[in-house]
Amino acid sequence: MSSSVIVVTADRFAATAATWIADRANSAIEARGECTLALCGGNTPVPVFEELVGRTIRWPEVVVFFGDERAVPRDDPDSNFGMACRSLLDHVSIRGDRVHRMEADRPDRGVAAEEYDRLLPPRLDILLLGVGPDGHTASLFPGSPALLETDRRVVAVPGPPPPIQPQVARMTITPPVIGAARNVAVLVSGIAKAALLARILEGPSDPIILPAQFARRGTWILDRAAAGQLHRRDD
Ligand code: 6PG
Repeated sequence: MSSSVIVVTADRFAATAATWIADRANSAIEARGECTLALCGGNTPVPVFEELVGRTIRWPEVVVFFGDERAVPRDDPDSNFGMACRSLLDHVSIRGDRVHRMEADRPDRGVAAEEYDRLLPPRLDILLLGVGPDGHTASLFPGSPALLETDRRVVAVPGPPPPIQPQVARMTITPPVIGAARNVAVLVSGIAKAALLARILEGPSDPIILPAQFARRGTWILDRAAAGQLHRRDD
C-alpha cells in the first residue's frame, strides 16, 4: 500500500503542512461551499496551526471538528481544543457555531461520543492526524477494541497505558472516519519517531499494533529527522 510522503527540512515543515491544508480547504469550499476540517492534537501541529493563521482561507465557510480529545476541561493545558484555540481558532474569522469541541470531559462521555458521531459529516474534507510514540493516532491506542469499530464513528476510550501521556480517558474517531475522509494528512516531526515511522510506512501491515497504519493511504508530511530511517524518500 503506497503512501504519499512529503519530506522537508525542519524549517519548512509548518509552511509545507499549512500550504497542503489551505489548498485543500479552498478546493473543498470551491467545490461544495464549505470545508469540514478535523484537527489533530498534541504538540506537533502547533506551528502548523500558527502558520495557518496567516494563510488565505475563507474561514466562515470552514467547519472544525477534532479527531480526539482528552477528558479534561477546555482550559486545561492538556486540552486539544484549548491548544487549537490558542494556536489557530482564536485568531481567524471562524464562526463559533462551526467549531465542534469534543466534550470528552462530560461524565456521560459515551453519550457525548454518540452525539458527536451524529455531528460528523459522512466524509470529512480534511482529517489531520499525528502519531504517538507507541504508534497510536488520534486516541486509537495499540490493542484497543476501538480499532475494530466498523459502525460507531466516535467512541469514548480509557486513557493510554504508561508511558503515554496524558494518562486521562479520551474520546476519539474510529478507523471508518479515517477511511472515509477525502484528504488525510499525517504530520510527524522529530528524530524520536524515525524508527517508528519506518515500521509504520515500510513494515508489515498490522494496524492493531500500529494504529497509525490506518492512515497509510494518506499524505505523510514529515521533516527530514522523522523520515531519517525511511528507504523511500520523496525529498
Ligand atoms: C492526542 C493526539 C495524538 C497526537 C500524537 C502525537 O490527543 O494525544 O491527538 O494522537 O497526535 O500523540 O502527539 P505529539 O504531536 O505531541 O507528538
